[in-house]
Amino acid sequence: MATIISENTISEIKNTADIVDIVSEFVLLKKAGRNFVGLCPFHSEKTPSFTVSPEKQIFYCFGCGVGGNLFSFLMKHNGISFPEAVKMIAGRYGIEIPDQKLSPIQEKRMSERESLFDVNRKALDFFRNVLFNSSEGKRAMAYLEKRGLEEKTICRFNLGYAPSGWDTLVHFFLKKQVPPELIEKSGLIVSKKNKNGFYDRFRNRIIFPIFDVNMQVIGFGGRVLDDSLPKYLNSPETDVYNKSRSLYGLHLARQKCRETGSVFIAEGYLDLLSLHQHGIENSVATLGTALTADHIRLLKGYADRMILVYDSDQAGIRAARRCIDIFWKEHVNFRKEDVFRKENVDTRILVLTDGHDPDSYLLEFGAEAFFNAAKKAPGIISFLMESAIKKYGISVEGKIRIVSELKETLAAIDDGVARSLYIKELAELISIDESAVLEKVREVLVKKKNDIRRINRSNGFPCPNFKGPDNSNKCREKTISEIGSRLERQIISMMLQFPEILPEIDRRNLLDNFEDQLLKSIGQTLLTLKGNFQSRVLSTQPTARDCVHASEIMSRIDDKEIRGIIAALAITENFWDNEGCMKLIAQFEDSRNRSGSDLLRKIKAAEAANDHELLMRLLEEKQKLAVINKQQKLNQRGGK
Ligand code: CTP
Ligand code: MN
Repeated sequence: MATIISENTISEIKNTADIVDIVSEFVLLKKAGRNFVGLCPFHSEKTPSFTVSPEKQIFYCFGCGVGGNLFSFLMKHNGISFPEAVKMIAGRYGIEIPDQKLSPIQEKRMSERESLFDVNRKALDFFRNVLFNSSEGKRAMAYLEKRGLEEKTICRFNLGYAPSGWDTLVHFFLKKQVPPELIEKSGLIVSKKNKNGFYDRFRNRIIFPIFDVNMQVIGFGGRVLDDSLPKYLNSPETDVYNKSRSLYGLHLARQKCRETGSVFIAEGYLDLLSLHQHGIENSVATLGTALTADHIRLLKGYADRMILVYDSDQAGIRAARRCIDIFWKEHVNFRKEDVFRKENVDTRILVLTDGHDPDSYLLEFGAEAFFNAAKKAPGIISFLMESAIKKYGISVEGKIRIVSELKETLAAIDDGVARSLYIKELAELISIDESAVLEKVREVLVKKKNDIRRINRSNGFPCPNFKGPDNSNKCREKTISEIGSRLERQIISMMLQFPEILPEIDRRNLLDNFEDQLLKSIGQTLLTLKGNFQSRVLSTQPTARDCVHASEIMSRIDDKEIRGIIAALAITENFWDNEGCMKLIAQFEDSRNRSGSDLLRKIKAAEAANDHELLMRLLEEKQKLAVINKQQKLNQRGGK
């Protein structure tokens, strides 16, 4: 049901929820000093620069510059709205969000996403009811039993059945007075060709509801009971359903993935159900799409070992190649913030024997055999090497083809040590000279490097430092150390971490002397917000004060770049006291005065060079500086 969330509830959530707790659900965090660090879920990295501060209740990534509080984390990570983030946290901490009856106008304003979740949830209830309480449902139940599914599994995954009529669901929603246009948006019903009404998308099919990690229903899959085609039908993509970001079963697999540090990725609905039923609960399935970079990034938060399970060599090879493709594409596309590098994840390919898929394999051989096979599953590169050797044999011809087929793969390994080890391995496997393989791989590397240069040039995106794929990190958004001067950054940092100093900054008009306009405007925002925090600043408990301060400010900043900068400057571990602050202020004012004497030198030079235009500009600057200096002197006198 749609609800309005009151300020009271939001502040209750802020007081109860812990950012470390929430982020830990998606990122493996380790304690480091007063903060926690982990691999950033928003960009690719090998060493953790994603930092979470429990004291300040904020996060910041020193690698990609993303930062914010727990709401912004969930919104960005799960691609959800603010109310959804609030609800998710409330649900987790058992904070009740009181239902408020919506007025017609509010009803209209209810976000479309929420309405879609609502429609999907109602449809799920409908399908489940048909499965358990109708004669058609009995037939479906018999089919599921025949496929070896236990009632426990059927209930756990909320399976249902779509009856055979053309408009049973249409009528169900009509009776509930849900507008058909909305249901059409959910993909559950389809507009008739003559535009004269709607019909049910799913008819005569077992229904597999698809959940997101918040247990919301985002879409459905449906399977026929016989051999008719198409065997499966799926919801189209909607505002709440993005196939390349959704994984079937993830909502029930998360916990086990974390515990085991590994995840099995299968292809089918029934495979997934079978895996769970056999106790292999760290399993998910892709939904009629190939594995995407988004899938991998999503899973990375739960496990660092991924085992892709396939029913044939061909499917396995396709998937392995695709993984490698993902790596390449991401390297070339430097501007993409969220690059994925395979070193972060140990990826294995498990091809089950004799064309078995996980479902049929488990039914025939059981879970233990499955685990044993999984233990022997090779990594992507080894798998591709083995497959190529199997395919071409090791005649002279075969060897040439093997090297030619694998050179791109080997070149895609961006860790130099790993690459040379694999090159060596291949050379040994097919007994040829290592340098021959190396030469072929080098050719590819040189070509790729040139391609990348060309692409970057045509994007107007020069990348002069480029040395190889490893360098992708050099070309990203500005990090904090590139913004403004060190002194200016320190002052904003101080304002964030020691709000007691705000009145002093205000009184001295310190921000007027800032050169960096972004930092200056952040400082001004902090001063404006000052009033709101003054009562809290007086609180005797410093950590509580910090916590309220930085995280609270985040909620008031809409611009994500600015949020990132604030997070960066708030999260550094400094110890501030009054004396230290005054020293920093003096240092800053000094440096500004000194730039005054720099100015005199420039004026003399401009005079000597007869550069009137420059001279006028410099004199104007001098005038401004004089006014500022005067103001500062007044302030200092007033301060003593
Ligand atoms: N799939 C799909 N649309 C199809 C066929 C397949 O979306 N027309 C997706 C489904 O997610 C399906 C998966 O691809 O689960 C694997 O397809 P397939 O191997 O054909 O089916 P199984 O999952 O093995 O189903 P079953 O065992 O019931 O035949
Ligand atoms: Mn199957």
